[in-house]
Amino acid sequence: MTTAIYPGSFDPLTFGHIDILERSVRLFDRIVIAILTNSQKTPLFTIDERLEIVRAIVTPRYPNVEIEVDVFHGLLVDYAKRKNAQVIVRGIRAVTDYEYELQMALMNRRLAPEIETVFMMPAENYSYLSSHLVKEIAGHGGTVTGLVPEMVEQRLKDKFKNPS
Ligand code: PNS
Repeated sequence: MTTAIYPGSFDPLTFGHIDILERSVRLFDRIVIAILTNSQKTPLFTIDERLEIVRAIVTPRYPNVEIEVDVFHGLLVDYAKRKNAQVIVRGIRAVTDYEYELQMALMNRRLAPEIETVFMMPAENYSYLSSHLVKEIAGHGGTVTGLVPEMVEQRLKDKFKNPS
């Protein structure tokens, strides 16, 4: 039984994340989507909001797959060990992602050689999609239809209407 951790900020969840998840469910028996709580970045959505959104979208989508949506803080490899995971899944879009991802993967390997990082490429039409750009577009009143699930689109509208 192979358990994979799919970690990230998910601020917010995009179709790019869902694409990588789609590929992961074909490869692994159990997937833990792990949302980072103590990121150095200031998130737009609170951890509870991100947890709620990811759960609401992912759970009905894969009724027959063992998927857990959880939060984590501290080192990813420590969390992965606690979850008995053998694999860390990361999506790679463009060459620009590669350097940072390679650094992280090699550092994680140094910390925990028994855990393997697996990189996956999303569909080409999501290769330029990022949560950062989605927030920027929505923040300026642009449309993010087709880039994020409807629930996220609505939450972005609410967020920028009533910033907390
Ligand atoms: O979606 P993101 O923001 O690109 O995800 C980055 C994430 C959560 C994978 C990364 O920041 C992380 O693993 N943070 C936990 C702290 C950690 O283990 N850092 C050492 C990495 S070598």
